[in-house]
Amino acid sequence: MGDKVSAGGRLLVQFARGARSAAYQLGAPFDYVFRLMNQLDQYPPLHLRRHVGGMNAGFNGPGYEIVAYLRLLARLRDGDSLWDVGCGCGMLELALHDLGWKGRLIGTDIHKPCIDWAQGNIASRLEGHRFVHMDIYNDAYWRKGTLSAREWLDGFGEREFDVVVAKSLFTHVLPDELDVYLKGICERLKPGGRALLTFFILSGVQQDFATAGRNRLSFRPYGDDGRCSIRNPMAPTAAVAYDEQYLLDRLRAAGFRIDGHTIHHGVWTGSPEGLSFQDIVVVEK
Ligand SMILES: C[S@@+](CC[C@H](N)C(=O)[O-])C[C@H]1O[C@@H](n2cnc3c(N)ncnc32)[C@H](O)[C@@H]1O
Repeated sequence: MGDKVSAGGRLLVQFARGARSAAYQLGAPFDYVFRLMNQLDQYPPLHLRRHVGGMNAGFNGPGYEIVAYLRLLARLRDGDSLWDVGCGCGMLELALHDLGWKGRLIGTDIHKPCIDWAQGNIASRLEGHRFVHMDIYNDAYWRKGTLSAREWLDGFGEREFDVVVAKSLFTHVLPDELDVYLKGICERLKPGGRALLTFFILSGVQQDFATAGRNRLSFRPYGDDGRCSIRNPMAPTAAVAYDEQYLLDRLRAAGFRIDGHTIHHGVWTGSPEGLSFQDIVVVEK
């Protein structure tokens, strides 16, 4: 019964997602004119910006914010090599360029329209940038995918990155894939390389804020094994949260040095002292 309900629910979610995309396509001509008139034509069209959730905080606020954290927390320097996993349509890359960063950058994502746009409009103009599609099957984000995450990573030959960033990727990734990606990231960093990864982390502090009714998002356990929690059973990967200790164990298992880790808690918990919205984890290889 539960499976039937969730299968029906998932169909409903797919239908709603299709309808929402169609509505955004209708707004495309207005968005195009708006971008032209406001000298924002370097930015992707509306439906791709919406795909990456970048509609809520100014035109590219989150992109600029992450550049600052990359510089200050992950010690990104000019001339470094950077892998942006789950790069979407390249909003971070546009911000990095705008703020003067120069280096080798590879952006990868499972959403082919985003990657096609970024390769055609960003890589074609910015030296050292390349965008690669991850043809990985994903029920919510890329149903045409033919590979598993492990198979795709096996064929991804790039290595020796100074820094890897994954902003709002692991907030959509379930535990089996989390392990595969964390290992794939750690293997591709230089020794001493840094990863800046964002999450929703469940912790004692977050729980205190939850009890006080302050959390801005609420999660419920997913599956029987307690490995993660989700917001919406009809769309499990819409928002995924991990217990802090579990996450640290998985980072250690992937090869990261946990003694050097830092967690910068986000304001999603309702804490007034958060740095960003999501929690930011910085780890070294
Ligand atoms: C919230 S968006 C963030 C995009 C980009 N990092 C940014 O900040 O603009 C999440 C991105 O992760 C991608 N994504 C979702 N699940 C994924 C998965 N399992 N593997 C790789 N990419 C995934 C989506 O296609 C989407 O572009």
